[in-house]
Amino acid sequence: MATRYVMSIDQGTTSTRCIIFDQQGRLVSVTQREHRQHFPQPGWVEHDAVEIWRNLERIAPEALRQAGVGLEQVAAIGIANQRETTLVWDRHTGVPLRRAIVWQDTRTTALVDELAARPEASMVQKRCGLPLATYFSAPRIRWLLDEVPGLRERAERGEVLFGTMESWLIWNLTGGPDGGLHLTDVTNASRTLLMDLTTLEWDDDLLDFFGVPRAMLPQIRPSTETYGVARTVLPGVRIGAALGDQQAALFGQTCFAPGEAKCTYGTGGFLLLNTGKDPVRSTHGLLTTVGYQVGAEPAVYALEAPIAVTGALVQWFRDGLGLINSAPEIETLAKTVDDNGGCYIVPAFAGLFAPHWRSEARGVIVGLTSYITKGHLARAVLEATAWQTREVVDAMNADSGLALRGLKVDGGMTADNLLMQCIADVLDVPVVRPMVAETVSLGAAYAAGLAVGYWPDLEGLRRNWHRAAQWLPAMDPARRESEYDNWRRAVERTFGWLQ
Ligand code: G3P
Repeated sequence: MATRYVMSIDQGTTSTRCIIFDQQGRLVSVTQREHRQHFPQPGWVEHDAVEIWRNLERIAPEALRQAGVGLEQVAAIGIANQRETTLVWDRHTGVPLRRAIVWQDTRTTALVDELAARPEASMVQKRCGLPLATYFSAPRIRWLLDEVPGLRERAERGEVLFGTMESWLIWNLTGGPDGGLHLTDVTNASRTLLMDLTTLEWDDDLLDFFGVPRAMLPQIRPSTETYGVARTVLPGVRIGAALGDQQAALFGQTCFAPGEAKCTYGTGGFLLLNTGKDPVRSTHGLLTTVGYQVGAEPAVYALEAPIAVTGALVQWFRDGLGLINSAPEIETLAKTVDDNGGCYIVPAFAGLFAPHWRSEARGVIVGLTSYITKGHLARAVLEATAWQTREVVDAMNADSGLALRGLKVDGGMTADNLLMQCIADVLDVPVVRPMVAETVSLGAAYAAGLAVGYWPDLEGLRRNWHRAAQWLPAMDPARRESEYDNWRRAVERTFGWLQ
Protein backbone atom coordinates (compact mmCIF):
# COMPACT_ATOMS: atom_id res chain seq x y z
CA MET A 1 0.00 0.00 0.00
CA ALA A 2 1.24 3.51 -0.84
CA THR A 3 2.65 5.56 2.06
CA ARG A 4 0.06 7.80 3.68
CA TYR A 5 0.28 11.33 5.04
CA VAL A 6 -1.74 13.90 6.93
CA MET A 7 -2.32 17.43 5.71
CA SER A 8 -2.70 20.41 8.01
CA ILE A 9 -4.17 23.76 7.12
CA ASP A 10 -3.09 26.64 9.36
CA GLN A 11 -5.30 29.63 8.65
CA GLY A 12 -3.38 32.31 10.58
CA THR A 13 -3.62 36.07 11.04
CA THR A 14 -1.18 36.95 8.29
CA SER A 15 -1.18 33.89 6.03
CA THR A 16 -2.60 30.47 5.27
CA ARG A 17 -0.29 27.47 5.18
CA CYS A 18 -0.62 23.86 4.14
CA ILE A 19 1.84 21.31 5.45
CA ILE A 20 2.02 17.62 4.68
CA PHE A 21 3.37 15.45 7.51
CA ASP A 22 4.52 11.86 7.54
CA GLN A 23 3.95 9.33 10.30
CA GLN A 24 7.05 10.45 12.25
CA GLY A 25 5.66 13.99 12.33
CA ARG A 26 8.24 15.20 9.78
CA LEU A 27 7.44 17.93 7.25
CA VAL A 28 7.17 16.65 3.70
CA SER A 29 6.03 19.85 1.98
CA VAL A 30 4.98 23.37 2.93
CA THR A 31 3.02 25.95 0.94
CA GLN A 32 1.95 29.34 2.16
CA ARG A 33 0.14 32.45 0.95
CA GLU A 34 -0.30 35.77 2.73
CA HIS A 35 -3.56 37.70 2.61
CA ARG A 36 -4.11 41.42 2.79
CA GLN A 37 -4.61 43.20 6.12
CA HIS A 38 -7.33 45.86 5.81
CA PHE A 39 -7.26 48.80 8.26
CA PRO A 40 -10.31 50.87 7.25
CA GLN A 41 -10.25 53.02 10.42
CA PRO A 42 -7.93 53.36 13.44
CA GLY A 43 -8.35 50.24 15.59
CA TRP A 44 -10.17 48.31 12.84
CA VAL A 45 -8.59 45.18 11.33
CA GLU A 46 -10.32 43.13 8.64
CA HIS A 47 -9.63 40.14 6.37
CA ASP A 48 -11.30 39.24 3.09
CA ALA A 49 -12.62 35.71 3.74
CA VAL A 50 -13.01 35.03 0.00
CA GLU A 51 -9.34 35.89 -0.57
CA ILE A 52 -8.42 33.45 2.22
CA TRP A 53 -10.56 30.71 0.66
CA ARG A 54 -9.00 31.33 -2.78
CA ASN A 55 -5.55 31.12 -1.20
CA LEU A 56 -6.42 27.72 0.22
CA GLU A 57 -7.75 26.56 -3.17
CA ARG A 58 -4.32 27.36 -4.55
CA ILE A 59 -1.92 26.18 -1.86
CA ALA A 60 -3.56 22.87 -0.92
CA PRO A 61 -3.09 21.19 -4.34
CA GLU A 62 0.35 22.82 -4.55
CA ALA A 63 1.39 21.13 -1.27
CA LEU A 64 0.36 17.76 -2.72
CA ARG A 65 2.25 18.41 -5.96
CA GLN A 66 5.41 19.46 -4.12
CA ALA A 67 5.31 16.32 -1.99
CA GLY A 68 4.46 14.08 -4.93
CA VAL A 69 1.49 12.84 -2.91
CA GLY A 70 -1.87 11.85 -4.43
CA LEU A 71 -5.24 12.68 -2.84
CA GLU A 72 -5.78 8.99 -2.06
CA GLN A 73 -2.61 9.07 0.07
CA VAL A 74 -3.95 11.77 2.41
CA ALA A 75 -5.37 10.03 5.46
CA ALA A 76 -7.03 13.18 6.82
CA ILE A 77 -6.98 16.97 6.95
CA GLY A 78 -6.64 18.91 10.22
CA ILE A 79 -7.38 22.61 10.51
CA ALA A 80 -5.87 25.14 12.91
CA ASN A 81 -6.95 28.75 12.73
CA GLN A 82 -6.61 32.28 14.04
CA ARG A 83 -9.20 32.40 16.77
CA GLU A 84 -12.02 34.88 17.52
CA THR A 85 -11.97 36.41 14.02
CA THR A 86 -15.64 36.85 13.15
CA LEU A 87 -17.38 36.22 9.85
CA VAL A 88 -21.00 36.22 8.77
CA TRP A 89 -22.02 34.84 5.36
CA ASP A 90 -25.11 34.07 3.30
CA ARG A 91 -26.15 30.44 3.55
CA HIS A 92 -27.60 30.38 0.03
CA THR A 93 -24.95 32.24 -1.96
CA GLY A 94 -21.88 31.64 0.23
CA VAL A 95 -21.03 35.35 0.03
CA PRO A 96 -19.73 37.04 3.22
CA LEU A 97 -21.85 40.02 4.32
CA ARG A 98 -18.80 42.01 5.38
CA ARG A 99 -15.09 41.40 5.60
CA ALA A 100 -14.11 39.24 8.60
CA ILE A 101 -13.47 41.29 11.76
CA VAL A 102 -10.08 40.21 13.11
CA TRP A 103 -9.29 39.34 16.74
CA GLN A 104 -7.08 42.45 17.07
CA ASP A 105 -9.92 44.79 16.08
CA THR A 106 -11.09 47.16 18.86
CA ARG A 107 -14.17 48.73 17.23
CA THR A 108 -16.42 47.19 19.89
CA THR A 109 -14.80 49.05 22.82
CA ALA A 110 -17.87 51.25 23.52
CA LEU A 111 -20.23 48.29 23.12
CA VAL A 112 -18.17 46.19 25.54
CA ASP A 113 -18.19 49.04 28.11
CA GLU A 114 -21.96 49.31 27.77
CA LEU A 115 -22.42 45.54 28.21
CA ALA A 116 -20.03 45.47 31.18
CA ALA A 117 -22.18 48.05 32.99
CA ARG A 118 -25.21 45.72 32.99
CA PRO A 119 -25.99 43.81 36.21
CA GLU A 120 -25.93 40.41 34.42
CA ALA A 121 -22.35 41.05 33.22
CA SER A 122 -20.90 39.23 36.23
CA MET A 123 -22.44 35.98 34.92
CA VAL A 124 -20.34 36.07 31.73
CA GLN A 125 -16.93 34.98 33.01
CA LYS A 126 -18.44 32.42 35.38
CA ARG A 127 -20.30 30.79 32.51
CA CYS A 128 -17.73 30.92 29.69
CA GLY A 129 -14.36 31.48 31.41
CA LEU A 130 -13.55 34.70 29.55
CA PRO A 131 -13.56 38.32 30.68
CA LEU A 132 -15.78 40.68 28.72
CA ALA A 133 -13.31 42.14 26.23
CA THR A 134 -13.16 43.28 22.61
CA TYR A 135 -10.77 40.37 21.92
CA PHE A 136 -13.56 37.77 21.64
CA SER A 137 -16.23 37.11 18.99
CA ALA A 138 -19.64 37.84 20.55
CA PRO A 139 -19.38 41.66 20.66
CA ARG A 140 -18.34 41.58 16.99
CA ILE A 141 -21.34 39.46 16.02
CA ARG A 142 -23.54 41.92 17.92
CA TRP A 143 -21.85 44.86 16.19
CA LEU A 144 -22.60 43.30 12.79
CA LEU A 145 -26.21 42.53 13.74
CA ASP A 146 -26.69 46.18 14.77
CA GLU A 147 -24.81 47.61 11.82
CA VAL A 148 -25.89 45.66 8.73
CA PRO A 149 -29.51 46.48 7.75
CA GLY A 150 -31.83 43.47 7.96
CA LEU A 151 -29.10 41.16 9.27
CA ARG A 152 -30.77 40.36 12.58
CA GLU A 153 -34.02 39.23 10.90
CA ARG A 154 -32.12 37.14 8.38
CA ALA A 155 -29.95 35.62 11.15
CA GLU A 156 -33.08 34.70 13.11
CA ARG A 157 -34.44 32.92 10.03
CA GLY A 158 -31.14 31.01 9.68
CA GLU A 159 -30.38 32.60 6.30
CA VAL A 160 -26.99 33.90 7.41
CA LEU A 161 -24.33 31.96 9.24
CA PHE A 162 -21.68 32.97 11.77
CA GLY A 163 -18.33 31.27 11.98
CA THR A 164 -14.69 31.71 12.85
CA MET A 165 -12.22 30.77 10.14
CA GLU A 166 -12.34 26.98 10.65
CA SER A 167 -16.14 27.06 10.19
CA TRP A 168 -15.78 29.08 6.99
CA LEU A 169 -13.17 26.70 5.55
CA ILE A 170 -15.01 23.50 6.55
CA TRP A 171 -18.31 24.84 5.15
CA ASN A 172 -16.62 25.63 1.83
CA LEU A 173 -14.60 22.41 1.72
CA THR A 174 -17.74 20.32 2.25
CA GLY A 175 -19.81 21.93 -0.48
CA GLY A 176 -20.59 25.53 0.54
CA PRO A 177 -24.17 26.53 -0.41
CA ASP A 178 -24.58 23.00 -1.74
CA GLY A 179 -24.94 21.26 1.64
CA GLY A 180 -21.73 22.49 3.34
CA LEU A 181 -21.33 21.45 7.00
CA HIS A 182 -21.73 24.34 9.44
CA LEU A 183 -19.70 23.40 12.49
CA THR A 184 -17.02 24.54 14.88
CA ASP A 185 -14.95 22.75 17.51
CA VAL A 186 -14.99 23.20 21.28
CA THR A 187 -11.71 25.16 21.37
CA ASN A 188 -12.91 27.76 18.89
CA ALA A 189 -16.37 27.90 20.45
CA SER A 190 -14.71 28.52 23.83
CA ARG A 191 -13.40 31.87 22.44
CA THR A 192 -16.76 33.33 21.46
CA LEU A 193 -18.12 34.29 24.95
CA LEU A 194 -21.20 32.25 24.02
CA MET A 195 -20.36 28.70 25.13
CA ASP A 196 -20.93 27.25 28.60
CA LEU A 197 -17.52 25.92 29.56
CA THR A 198 -18.87 22.87 31.38
CA THR A 199 -21.72 21.72 29.11
CA LEU A 200 -19.76 22.67 25.95
CA GLU A 201 -23.02 23.96 24.43
CA TRP A 202 -24.18 27.40 23.37
CA ASP A 203 -25.71 29.02 26.44
CA ASP A 204 -29.13 30.73 26.25
CA ASP A 205 -28.31 33.34 28.91
CA LEU A 206 -25.13 34.32 27.09
CA LEU A 207 -26.97 34.41 23.74
CA ASP A 208 -29.60 36.71 25.32
CA PHE A 209 -26.97 38.89 26.96
CA PHE A 210 -25.17 39.52 23.66
CA GLY A 211 -28.36 39.44 21.55
CA VAL A 212 -27.10 36.70 19.24
CA PRO A 213 -29.69 34.41 17.54
CA ARG A 214 -28.97 30.70 17.96
CA ALA A 215 -30.01 29.97 14.35
CA MET A 216 -26.84 31.57 12.97
CA LEU A 217 -24.43 29.53 15.12
CA PRO A 218 -22.51 26.44 14.01
CA GLN A 219 -22.83 23.07 15.71
CA ILE A 220 -20.15 22.53 18.37
CA ARG A 221 -18.11 19.33 17.89
CA PRO A 222 -15.03 17.73 19.49
CA SER A 223 -11.64 18.94 18.18
CA THR A 224 -10.78 15.46 16.94
CA GLU A 225 -13.52 13.69 15.02
CA THR A 226 -14.22 12.83 11.37
CA TYR A 227 -16.62 15.67 10.61
CA GLY A 228 -17.13 14.71 6.98
CA VAL A 229 -15.44 14.42 3.63
CA ALA A 230 -14.17 17.30 1.49
CA ARG A 231 -16.08 17.77 -1.75
CA THR A 232 -14.01 20.60 -3.18
CA VAL A 233 -10.24 21.34 -3.37
CA LEU A 234 -9.31 17.99 -1.76
CA PRO A 235 -12.26 15.84 -2.87
CA GLY A 236 -12.73 12.62 -0.98
CA VAL A 237 -10.33 13.43 1.87
CA ARG A 238 -11.69 13.17 5.42
CA ILE A 239 -11.68 16.27 7.62
CA GLY A 240 -10.55 14.94 11.00
CA ALA A 241 -9.85 17.91 13.25
CA ALA A 242 -10.24 21.60 13.95
CA LEU A 243 -8.60 23.56 16.76
CA GLY A 244 -7.82 27.18 17.51
CA ASP A 245 -4.18 27.71 16.57
CA GLN A 246 -2.89 28.16 20.11
CA GLN A 247 -4.64 25.02 21.29
CA ALA A 248 -3.21 23.25 18.23
CA ALA A 249 0.27 24.31 19.38
CA LEU A 250 -0.45 22.87 22.85
CA PHE A 251 -1.37 19.60 21.11
CA GLY A 252 1.64 19.75 18.77
CA GLN A 253 3.92 20.24 21.77
CA THR A 254 2.25 17.13 23.24
CA CYS A 255 1.32 18.96 26.46
CA PHE A 256 -1.15 16.20 27.31
CA ALA A 257 -0.62 16.06 31.09
CA PRO A 258 -1.92 18.58 33.63
CA GLY A 259 0.88 21.00 34.52
CA GLU A 260 2.47 20.96 31.03
CA ALA A 261 2.67 24.33 29.33
CA LYS A 262 3.83 25.87 26.08
CA CYS A 263 4.30 29.41 24.89
CA THR A 264 4.09 30.35 21.21
CA TYR A 265 5.94 33.55 20.33
CA GLY A 266 4.74 35.27 17.17
CA THR A 267 3.28 38.76 16.75
CA GLY A 268 1.80 38.18 20.19
CA GLY A 269 2.63 35.52 22.77
CA PHE A 270 0.25 32.80 23.92
CA LEU A 271 1.02 30.74 27.01
CA LEU A 272 -1.28 27.76 27.64
CA LEU A 273 -1.18 25.42 30.60
CA ASN A 274 -2.97 22.06 30.53
CA THR A 275 -5.14 21.91 33.67
CA GLY A 276 -6.78 18.53 32.99
CA LYS A 277 -10.44 17.50 32.99
CA ASP A 278 -11.72 20.33 35.17
CA PRO A 279 -11.73 23.99 34.19
CA VAL A 280 -9.66 26.12 36.58
CA ARG A 281 -11.30 29.50 37.10
CA SER A 282 -8.79 32.30 37.03
CA THR A 283 -8.63 34.94 39.72
CA HIS A 284 -5.40 36.41 38.34
CA GLY A 285 -6.37 37.75 34.92
CA LEU A 286 -6.06 34.59 32.83
CA LEU A 287 -8.57 32.93 30.52
CA THR A 288 -10.15 29.55 31.13
CA THR A 289 -10.47 27.83 27.81
CA VAL A 290 -10.86 24.41 26.24
CA GLY A 291 -7.47 22.89 25.40
CA TYR A 292 -8.83 20.08 23.20
CA GLN A 293 -11.40 17.31 23.09
CA VAL A 294 -10.48 14.00 21.54
CA GLY A 295 -13.64 12.37 20.15
CA ALA A 296 -16.20 11.45 22.81
CA GLU A 297 -13.65 11.71 25.64
CA PRO A 298 -14.09 14.48 28.22
CA ALA A 299 -12.65 17.84 27.21
CA VAL A 300 -9.22 18.87 28.51
CA TYR A 301 -9.08 22.44 29.77
CA ALA A 302 -6.33 25.02 29.78
CA LEU A 303 -5.48 28.28 31.42
CA GLU A 304 -4.35 30.76 28.84
CA ALA A 305 -2.37 33.96 29.03
CA PRO A 306 -2.48 35.94 25.81
CA ILE A 307 0.19 38.66 25.54
CA ALA A 308 -0.87 41.14 22.85
CA VAL A 309 2.58 42.32 21.72
CA THR A 310 5.80 40.28 21.58
CA GLY A 311 7.22 39.94 18.04
CA ALA A 312 5.20 43.02 17.02
CA LEU A 313 7.59 45.08 19.18
CA VAL A 314 10.56 43.81 17.17
CA GLN A 315 8.65 44.67 13.98
CA TRP A 316 8.09 48.20 15.30
CA PHE A 317 11.78 48.50 16.17
CA ARG A 318 12.57 47.51 12.58
CA ASP A 319 9.80 49.27 10.62
CA GLY A 320 8.68 52.08 12.94
CA LEU A 321 12.09 53.14 14.25
CA GLY A 322 14.27 51.73 11.46
CA LEU A 323 17.00 50.74 13.94
CA ILE A 324 17.50 47.32 12.33
CA ASN A 325 16.93 46.03 8.80
CA SER A 326 15.69 42.56 9.65
CA ALA A 327 14.18 41.01 12.77
CA PRO A 328 17.11 38.64 13.50
CA GLU A 329 19.47 41.67 13.72
CA ILE A 330 17.94 42.61 17.05
CA GLU A 331 19.93 39.86 18.75
CA THR A 332 23.23 41.13 17.29
CA LEU A 333 22.42 44.69 18.32
CA ALA A 334 21.35 43.67 21.82
CA LYS A 335 24.63 41.77 22.26
CA THR A 336 26.64 45.00 21.78
CA VAL A 337 25.81 45.83 25.42
CA ASP A 338 25.88 43.82 28.65
CA ASP A 339 22.52 44.91 30.04
CA ASN A 340 19.58 47.25 29.45
CA GLY A 341 21.35 50.25 31.00
CA GLY A 342 18.31 50.81 33.24
CA CYS A 343 15.90 51.13 30.33
CA TYR A 344 12.53 49.31 30.03
CA ILE A 345 9.99 49.28 27.19
CA VAL A 346 6.39 48.26 27.87
CA PRO A 347 4.67 47.68 24.51
CA ALA A 348 1.07 48.49 25.46
CA PHE A 349 0.42 49.55 21.87
CA ALA A 350 -3.32 48.82 22.04
CA GLY A 351 -3.70 48.27 25.78
CA LEU A 352 -2.45 45.26 27.73
CA PHE A 353 -3.91 41.75 27.65
CA ALA A 354 -3.15 39.19 30.39
CA PRO A 355 -2.84 39.56 33.27
CA HIS A 356 -3.78 43.26 33.30
CA TRP A 357 -6.63 43.64 30.77
CA ARG A 358 -6.16 47.42 30.54
CA SER A 359 -7.51 48.66 27.22
CA GLU A 360 -6.67 52.28 28.12
CA ALA A 361 -2.95 51.58 28.72
CA ARG A 362 -0.43 52.84 26.18
CA GLY A 363 3.25 52.01 25.77
CA VAL A 364 6.15 53.62 27.61
CA ILE A 365 9.94 53.71 27.49
CA VAL A 366 11.31 54.50 30.96
CA GLY A 367 14.78 54.98 32.41
CA LEU A 368 16.12 57.01 29.48
CA THR A 369 19.43 58.77 30.12
CA SER A 370 22.09 60.00 27.72
CA TYR A 371 23.95 56.76 28.44
CA ILE A 372 21.31 54.72 26.56
CA THR A 373 22.28 53.50 23.07
CA LYS A 374 20.29 51.63 20.48
CA GLY A 375 21.93 48.47 21.84
CA HIS A 376 20.27 49.08 25.23
CA LEU A 377 16.95 49.70 23.50
CA ALA A 378 17.32 46.44 21.55
CA ARG A 379 17.91 44.63 24.82
CA ALA A 380 14.89 46.31 26.40
CA VAL A 381 12.79 45.18 23.41
CA LEU A 382 13.77 41.54 23.94
CA GLU A 383 13.43 41.79 27.71
CA ALA A 384 9.87 43.12 27.30
CA THR A 385 8.84 39.70 25.96
CA ALA A 386 10.66 37.94 28.80
CA TRP A 387 9.14 40.10 31.57
CA GLN A 388 5.66 39.84 30.10
CA THR A 389 6.11 36.06 30.13
CA ARG A 390 7.18 36.26 33.78
CA GLU A 391 4.04 38.22 34.68
CA VAL A 392 1.75 35.64 33.10
CA VAL A 393 3.66 32.69 34.54
CA ASP A 394 3.28 34.22 38.02
CA ALA A 395 -0.45 34.57 37.40
CA MET A 396 -0.60 30.97 36.19
CA ASN A 397 1.26 29.63 39.20
CA ALA A 398 -1.09 31.55 41.50
CA ASP A 399 -4.22 30.30 39.69
CA SER A 400 -3.19 26.68 39.33
CA GLY A 401 -1.46 26.33 42.68
CA LEU A 402 1.39 24.60 40.82
CA ALA A 403 4.82 26.07 40.12
CA LEU A 404 5.76 25.78 36.47
CA ARG A 405 8.79 23.51 36.20
CA GLY A 406 9.74 24.12 32.58
CA LEU A 407 8.43 25.88 29.50
CA LYS A 408 8.15 24.46 25.99
CA VAL A 409 8.43 27.24 23.44
CA ASP A 410 7.77 27.58 19.71
CA GLY A 411 7.12 30.26 17.10
CA GLY A 412 9.34 32.60 15.10
CA MET A 413 10.94 34.40 18.05
CA THR A 414 12.41 31.19 19.44
CA ALA A 415 15.19 31.53 16.84
CA ASP A 416 16.57 34.32 19.07
CA ASN A 417 18.96 32.65 21.53
CA LEU A 418 19.47 35.74 23.65
CA LEU A 419 15.71 36.09 24.15
CA MET A 420 15.32 32.39 25.03
CA GLN A 421 18.15 32.67 27.60
CA CYS A 422 16.54 35.79 28.99
CA ILE A 423 13.19 33.99 29.39
CA ALA A 424 14.88 31.09 31.22
CA ASP A 425 16.64 33.66 33.44
CA VAL A 426 13.57 35.68 34.41
CA LEU A 427 11.36 32.59 34.91
CA ASP A 428 14.08 30.64 36.68
CA VAL A 429 13.04 27.43 34.87
CA PRO A 430 14.47 25.61 31.83
CA VAL A 431 13.11 26.64 28.44
CA VAL A 432 13.01 23.98 25.70
CA ARG A 433 12.36 24.10 21.97
CA PRO A 434 11.29 21.02 19.98
CA MET A 435 12.77 19.77 16.73
CA VAL A 436 9.60 20.53 14.76
CA ALA A 437 9.02 24.24 15.30
CA GLU A 438 5.76 24.18 13.27
CA THR A 439 3.77 23.13 16.31
CA VAL A 440 0.46 24.73 15.26
CA SER A 441 0.37 22.75 12.02
CA LEU A 442 1.75 19.65 13.68
CA GLY A 443 -0.95 19.80 16.36
CA ALA A 444 -3.71 20.03 13.74
CA ALA A 445 -2.16 17.12 11.86
CA TYR A 446 -1.83 15.03 15.04
CA ALA A 447 -5.47 15.68 15.96
CA ALA A 448 -6.71 14.72 12.49
CA GLY A 449 -4.45 11.67 12.37
CA LEU A 450 -5.84 10.47 15.70
CA ALA A 451 -9.41 10.80 14.42
CA VAL A 452 -8.78 8.38 11.56
CA GLY A 453 -6.42 5.98 13.35
CA TYR A 454 -3.32 7.18 11.47
CA TRP A 455 -1.73 7.61 14.90
CA PRO A 456 -3.00 5.24 17.58
CA ASP A 457 -2.93 7.35 20.72
CA LEU A 458 -1.46 10.32 22.57
CA GLU A 459 1.50 8.29 23.85
CA GLY A 460 2.53 7.51 20.27
CA LEU A 461 2.53 11.24 19.53
CA ARG A 462 4.65 11.99 22.58
CA ARG A 463 7.35 9.72 21.19
CA ASN A 464 7.60 12.01 18.14
CA TRP A 465 8.54 15.00 20.33
CA HIS A 466 12.30 15.60 20.31
CA ARG A 467 14.20 18.41 22.01
CA ALA A 468 16.23 20.62 19.68
CA ALA A 469 17.53 23.17 22.20
CA GLN A 470 17.43 23.97 25.90
CA TRP A 471 18.26 27.11 27.90
CA LEU A 472 18.94 26.87 31.63
CA PRO A 473 18.46 29.75 34.07
CA ALA A 474 21.70 31.52 35.00
CA MET A 475 20.67 34.82 36.56
CA ASP A 476 21.56 36.00 40.01
CA PRO A 477 18.31 35.86 42.08
CA ALA A 478 18.80 39.30 43.65
CA ARG A 479 19.29 40.89 40.24
CA ARG A 480 16.22 39.07 38.91
CA GLU A 481 14.04 40.44 41.68
CA SER A 482 15.29 44.00 41.42
CA GLU A 483 14.85 44.06 37.63
CA TYR A 484 11.38 42.56 37.95
CA ASP A 485 10.53 45.31 40.37
CA ASN A 486 11.68 47.90 37.80
CA TRP A 487 9.56 46.20 35.15
CA ARG A 488 6.46 46.30 37.36
CA ARG A 489 6.98 49.99 38.05
CA ALA A 490 7.31 50.60 34.29
CA VAL A 491 4.04 48.70 33.63
CA GLU A 492 2.19 50.86 36.17
CA ARG A 493 3.18 53.93 34.20
CA THR A 494 1.22 52.69 31.16
CA PHE A 495 -2.09 52.54 33.08
CA GLY A 496 -4.71 55.20 32.53
CA TRP A 497 -2.95 56.88 29.63
CA LEU A 498 -6.19 57.08 27.62
CA GLN A 499 -8.83 58.67 29.87
O1 G3P B 1 -6.19 34.57 19.52
C1 G3P B 1 -5.53 34.98 18.37
C2 G3P B 1 -4.58 33.92 17.88
O2 G3P B 1 -5.27 32.73 17.64
C3 G3P B 1 -3.84 34.43 16.67
O3 G3P B 1 -2.78 33.63 16.37
O4 G3P B 1 -0.76 32.99 15.15
O5 G3P B 1 -2.79 33.60 13.84
O6 G3P B 1 -1.52 35.37 15.05
P1 G3P B 1 -1.89 33.91 15.02
